[in-house]
Amino acid sequence: KTPKVTARAHTNIALVKYWGKADEELIIPQNNSLSLTLDHFYTDTTVQFDPTLTADQFTLNGQAQKTTKITKFLDIIRQMAASQLFARVESTNHVPTMAGLASSASAYAALALAGSKALGLDLNSKDLSRLARRGSGSACRSIYGGFVEWQKGDSDQTSYAVPLVENLDWDLKMIAIVVNDKQKKIASRAGMQTVVHTSPYYSAWVKRSKEDLLALKQAIAEKDFTQLGKIAEGNAMCMHALNLSATPHFNYFEAESLKAMQLVEQLRDQGLECYYTMDAGPNVKVICQGKDLKAIVDSLSQEFSNEQLLVASAGPGAEILEIK
Ligand code: DP6
Repeated sequence: KTPKVTARAHTNIALVKYWGKADEELIIPQNNSLSLTLDHFYTDTTVQFDPTLTADQFTLNGQAQKTTKITKFLDIIRQMAASQLFARVESTNHVPTMAGLASSASAYAALALAGSKALGLDLNSKDLSRLARRGSGSACRSIYGGFVEWQKGDSDQTSYAVPLVENLDWDLKMIAIVVNDKQKKIASRAGMQTVVHTSPYYSAWVKRSKEDLLALKQAIAEKDFTQLGKIAEGNAMCMHALNLSATPHFNYFEAESLKAMQLVEQLRDQGLECYYTMDAGPNVKVICQGKDLKAIVDSLSQEFSNEQLLVASAGPGAEILEIK
């Protein structure tokens, strides 16, 4: 048996979104993206390769799962290490149960780190990011903490994330408003594929995301919260506009999502600075500064229950917790 390795990776929220692939097999994106790794939502994964196993095994939160995707991913690691051993993979998602925020980003970042280490590969962060990317694009960013840019590149070798500011000296907060925890209607993989192939606005998105990325990097360098918030909110709505313009069109908005966004706009009119973003699901994520957190949460809790409001700050990169 190989050593039994446990790794932890945190989820991340994109401020300039990844939405569309140039290469679907290798997961090479059409545009660079920029995210903030979060502290409160993470996945712990333990991997051990074992010659007595005749197939991979995978449990999530203690329950046996299908192994198709995991096996495809482990095959990449096995190939790198020239190994034919099957593995036992145990994952625990530390995301409040009703959050519906469980993310493939933390999952594949933790699996890339634990799996490669268990087979004796000592990958540097760049190669870990490339590996995590093969499981789920957004996972390549969860290798690092703080602000992270995924540089799209144009090949397996050149598409990976780089850290921009690993330790933030900026009190940013994200409030996830949990609208519901049901399975997403349209998985991001299928959604972005439809958009790339059918939205008449796709090339406008690629252009816009380039501009947003440059402006956001400048806002981060200058610690300009207003700019950061405006860019993130505008970029997210552009991504959702692609979905509305696809054939067939689709969207992730629910009545409660729209209510949450309107509320954020009202708070802004009242002088409380906050902005929203949304991913491939109905939950709304509100970005604000620590100094305004209490007032914003107080206002939001007039419309949403406390269990629906989850607060996170910037979090660290992926790490090994234990080798046994
Ligand atoms: C809307 O990384 O889940 O969250 O690469 O197909 O696994 P695959 O997609 P995934 O897409 C994330 C899309 C997003 C935006 C983002 O995180 O950048």
